[in-house]
Amino acid sequence: MNFTDTATWMKTTMEWLKTIPVPDSFVSLEVLRNVLRFHEHRYYVLNEPLITDPEYDKLYKQLEKSEVEHADWITRDSPTQRVGKTLNEQFATVDHLVPMLSLENTYDAADLTDWDRKVREGSPIPQPEYCIEPKYDGASISVIYENDILVRSATRGDGVQGDDITNNSLRIRNLPLKAPFSKYGIQTIEIRGEVLMTKQAFTQFNEKLTQNGLTPLANPRNAAAGTLRMKDPGEVAKRKLEAFLYNVSYINQIPNEQIPNSNIETQNSKSEIPNSGRDIQHSAFSIPHSHVGMLQMLWDCGFRSPVHEMMVADSINKVVDRCKEYEEIRDNLPYEIDGMVIKVNDLALQDKLGMTTHHPRWAVAYKFKARQATTILRAIDFQVGRTGAVTPVAKLDPVSIGGVTVSSISVHNQEYIREKNLMIGDTVIIERAGDVIPQIVQSHTALRNGTETAITFPTQCPVCKSKLYKEAEEAVWRCINVECPAQVAERIIHFVSKDAMDIRSFGEQQVQKFYRQGLLKDIPGIYKLDFEAIGQLEGFGKKSIDNLRQAIDQSKSQPLHRVIYGLGIRHVGETTAKALAQRVSHLLDLKALTVDSLMQMEDIGPKVASSIYQFFQNEQNLEMIAELEKLGITLARSDQAAVSGGKLNEQTFLFTGTLSQLKRSDAEAMAEEAGGKILGGVSSKLNYLIVGEDAGSKLEKAKKIPTIRILTEQEFLNLLTYNKEE
Ligand code: IVH
Repeated sequence: MNFTDTATWMKTTMEWLKTIPVPDSFVSLEVLRNVLRFHEHRYYVLNEPLITDPEYDKLYKQLEKSEVEHADWITRDSPTQRVGKTLNEQFATVDHLVPMLSLENTYDAADLTDWDRKVREGSPIPQPEYCIEPKYDGASISVIYENDILVRSATRGDGVQGDDITNNSLRIRNLPLKAPFSKYGIQTIEIRGEVLMTKQAFTQFNEKLTQNGLTPLANPRNAAAGTLRMKDPGEVAKRKLEAFLYNVSYINQIPNEQIPNSNIETQNSKSEIPNSGRDIQHSAFSIPHSHVGMLQMLWDCGFRSPVHEMMVADSINKVVDRCKEYEEIRDNLPYEIDGMVIKVNDLALQDKLGMTTHHPRWAVAYKFKARQATTILRAIDFQVGRTGAVTPVAKLDPVSIGGVTVSSISVHNQEYIREKNLMIGDTVIIERAGDVIPQIVQSHTALRNGTETAITFPTQCPVCKSKLYKEAEEAVWRCINVECPAQVAERIIHFVSKDAMDIRSFGEQQVQKFYRQGLLKDIPGIYKLDFEAIGQLEGFGKKSIDNLRQAIDQSKSQPLHRVIYGLGIRHVGETTAKALAQRVSHLLDLKALTVDSLMQMEDIGPKVASSIYQFFQNEQNLEMIAELEKLGITLARSDQAAVSGGKLNEQTFLFTGTLSQLKRSDAEAMAEEAGGKILGGVSSKLNYLIVGEDAGSKLEKAKKIPTIRILTEQEFLNLLTYNKEE
């Protein structure tokens, strides 16, 4: 079957959706994979989907089903292989094939003219061509494809070595797992690019953080960089990263005798590569020898390269104009850019110009000015969060900055106000650099006329009027009244949130509404809701009430670590909550732990230990816990897989080679205890092969079956730790 145009792809798609239930041969499976790849490219790269999400899901499920039935047909580049479940324990350090240099920065037309002069001095022709493209403001990555398959992704690191983040990069949906470079006679290619979170994805992500009482991230750049290094690839998938690929750093060609028949389809049917390439004779297309050609090749191979945003200019004045033009429209783009990158188009001239130890001479960055505006600071509001932290928020005369109207900005704490020397009535400069969250840069003290007033920090909680406290080494004042209404609603919201008790259909708005109406006063109140009264409220029909009641009931048997996390103890995140749950058999056992014994636990320092200790010394907290137990919430630790149906239930294990930390029989017993089964040999039924020293034929066999996860002994131990409670 040959896919040459969109119409053919669509016809095949429709046939599949209607008539072909499940692919029943390796070939038809590969056709289905291509159909899926085609639609992923339409959706994630071109932003022009041709089918609906449910239709896509249907095709995907067909593929999944068939791969379950025929594990030996799974290929590494199958669309299903984006969703492996292994956690990243550690990121291995890997060498870049070519060092990742940074760019020299320029800030104005004069700097650019100077750079142009230097380029022309090294050029055999008077005026070389330049490509101008956006400077994406994300986290840089370097990806390697070998024989058309994505084999490795790495962060920039120190430029010479980076962290291997391949596992996480598989979750970036517009980064192809397979790309037809062999068509160009390319065997190995290293490509540079930027991983971004779009403004929209970033805003949604921050909203979620705020709803869960967490601090929002400052900008999409930090969000992207942090996400790439997350332990859980599943979490990476949720954060909707996108990859933009803008430079080819290394190519190794296929030796002439191995050139395939080039029957691999490009994903963009409009492919037009200049056919004037280097020395490869038999490939369908030649390797381009201009930067534009490279960007086009990347685009044609299914990548989101900047070929359509990019402009080629034949004078530095045109470059300057283009940079200014983009500076004007940057706020209308769906992602953040912090400047433009100008590159010499001709690759031979790039080679000739070479590089310094820090940056290439053939490219330069033009940095945009930080987005600033001037306005008046009118007042300071003091807001109380879930943990009682009182945050001063500056109220400003509304001003537009970078396309966003800003009228209030957090000024963090008392110390910050002092450092910035802020007074009410001041004229202040605010800035959004790469940061989406604006900051006050400076107050124009010279413009003061004597009417400004000092900012006085409250000594009492602005909501419940109880006295505020501040710990010696902390900058934040807190209301420690656990019944402070401002905190109570936030605490309930946290308790029901997804990562805590995960009570579906009970969102922030519902909690706020019930709280305002007096239907919900505290956390135990969730389990005492008067559903009849709720039925009287607008927007609550029988169905939504039934759903809510059911979700609340189900939450009663959530594992202990979720309850602990849900209590919202300061400094206790999900990981600490899991560790605490492992330490005790009942929530109230935590009451008996001293600060010292808490500090014996891994990753618990004095601050966290003291916070946990304080929480369990507080009578009101203990009463609340007792009430939760009376209401039927499980506070005892359910013992692992046998009771809770752990994640390793029904998973199959096999050990091979000599283990260094465990006796084979002990390791097997541990796997069984966690719900797993031990198999006698390698087959497609095997889920995990744990490999010790001198592993032999079993390992070789397992490598051929892509569904088998091959683990070291340590990875196996980590797997058990991770899957204990849930
Ligand atoms: S080219 C050898 N092009 O900017 C130079 N870089 O300060 C290769 N960046 O580390 C880089 N957009 O992470 C290039 N269109 C673009 C870019 C870009 C963003 C980043 C990149 C690099 C940094 C340089």
